[in-house]
Amino acid sequence: MHTPLAAASASAAGTRDLAAALAELVRPGDIVLLAGDLGAGKTAFAQGFGRALGVDETITSPTFTLVNRYDGRLPFYHLDVYRLDRLDEVADLGLAEFLDEGGVMLIEWGDTITPVLPADFLEVRIELGDGDDDRHFEFRTVGTRWAARQRALAAALASWRVNPTPTARHQRPTPTARHQRPTGVPHADPGH
Ligand SMILES: Nc1ncnc2c1ncn2[C@@H]1O[C@H](COP(=O)(O)OP(=O)(O)OP(=O)(O)O)[C@@H](O)[C@H]1O
Ligand SMILES: [Mg+2]
Repeated sequence: MHTPLAAASASAAGTRDLAAALAELVRPGDIVLLAGDLGAGKTAFAQGFGRALGVDETITSPTFTLVNRYDGRLPFYHLDVYRLDRLDEVADLGLAEFLDEGGVMLIEWGDTITPVLPADFLEVRIELGDGDDDRHFEFRTVGTRWAARQRALAAALASWRVNPTPTARHQRPTPTARHQRPTGVPHADPGH
């Protein structure tokens, strides 16, 4: 695995622009996971991403609907699995069909459902920075689809790149602590 790429933005508009730059690289069947606390900027990221895919509609949070489909130059599926209670509910969403029809999938809180996803995705972790509007991003490829684009990824994100901050990584809460919600998706228990 490559060293994760690190980037930063200083405004919601900056996050949307960064996401738009990333979206230029996507291909049919791609999955992008968005990880980060409430209000980190996952939906802002999805808005910039969708805009770059040619979506004209306003992109809103699919927290209650779980999935929104938009028509862009590729079908764009925006998911938010925050309210999913059990991992096996993911099966009901029919993700495989979205990918088979050449869609691109962006999943907020996607890091909580990795046991039931194909092991081939780009994970974008968003963390709050020092200032109110500062956000830090870490991009990690899993599997070969995105790893093959590592260089293109670095180039696309060049305007936002920063040095990785090892301290931030050490301070990162554990997945269970991070997922602070009353009814949590059970974590990484694929045997059940
Ligand atoms: N640099 C930034 N990037 C993204 N959002 C920012 C930034 N600076 C400030 N914000 C603000 O932070 C908020 C991010 O909200 P957003 O809904 O995108 O977060 P989220 O991660 O999707 O939250 P949730 O977990 O509730 O879905 C917005 O109000 C946005 O204006
Ligand atoms: Mg959101």
